Amino acid sequence: MTFTDAPDGLASPDPAQAALASRHPANRPRVLSVANQKGGVGKTTTTINLGTALAATGERVLIIDLDPQGNASTGLGINRAARRISSYDLLIGRSSLVQAAVATDVPNLSIVPSTPDLAGAEPELYATDDWAHRLDRSIDATITPGLGSDGSPLFTYILIDCPPSLSLLTINAMAASDAVLVPLQCEFFALEGLSQLMKTVDQVRETLNPRLAIQGVVLTMFDKRNNLAVQVAADVRAYLGDKVYDTAIPRNVRISEAPSFGQPAIIYDYKCAGSEAYLRLAGEVLRREKTFRAA
Ligand SMILES: Nc1ncnc2c1ncn2[C@@H]1O[C@H](COP(=O)(O)OP(=O)(O)O)[C@@H](O)[C@H]1O
Ligand SMILES: [Mg+2]
Repeated sequence: MTFTDAPDGLASPDPAQAALASRHPANRPRVLSVANQKGGVGKTTTTINLGTALAATGERVLIIDLDPQGNASTGLGINRAARRISSYDLLIGRSSLVQAAVATDVPNLSIVPSTPDLAGAEPELYATDDWAHRLDRSIDATITPGLGSDGSPLFTYILIDCPPSLSLLTINAMAASDAVLVPLQCEFFALEGLSQLMKTVDQVRETLNPRLAIQGVVLTMFDKRNNLAVQVAADVRAYLGDKVYDTAIPRNVRISEAPSFGQPAIIYDYKCAGSEAYLRLAGEVLRREKTFRAA
């Protein structure tokens, strides 16, 4: 799907919607979409490990698995039986976020799992007027009933693991988000796909969600012995400047092993180079969040 064949909800901005989108109550969780329409660039790995690192600093983190493949759910050890309520139920309005959230083995980290029926959600969503705002609304709905027993919000961060497309699922994620975090693999066509992604972010900002920002771009699976990767990384940094995090995530076998144990790499082997990089990345993300909040 491209934006040119997007239904009306996206093409014609509704002023009431724009006002709703710019509202940002202090206890609404910060919402970050981890997005890139390319598959295999490290979205899910980044979502899981950044979520774990943020949870380790005391944030209350919820991951929403918005990819029908459900890799984030599997990678966090959520078996099929535990996926009774999924992100599909959220989107079609059959469940609330609080009902759909499942605790993981990582303290402070919950997930709304995904199921394959998410792949069939698009036609159902198209049939509704407010398709683009489904996820946004379900997050808004947690603000008051989502208060914990001490009056604090249930979640302080929501990370959305997007599917590898600029589909209506990704647009739902962006419409609900404060910022987009883009994992980028240093390969030849990296920048080409990026400009299309940035165009989508601009369009969502103009039509659905004026507060949408770019949190940053993280170089993933970086191999400093590979000349092409080094050259592409230099080009990306020259082109995007300080949008690119200082931390690059190295290619690291421990990171690729961890999901088969249903664990974030940071839990599986917190000392490996990949885990250390994700912990540093979380520090950068939090520093940027401070400046976003101050703005
Ligand atoms: N830094 C890394 N080092 C080694 N393997 C990685 C790294 N990051 C991701 N991978 C592996 O690459 C594959 C694609 O990553 P994934 O996070 O699933 O990408 P996406 O969600 O964008 O499709 C997975 O098998 C994952 O384990
Ligand atoms: Mg993925």
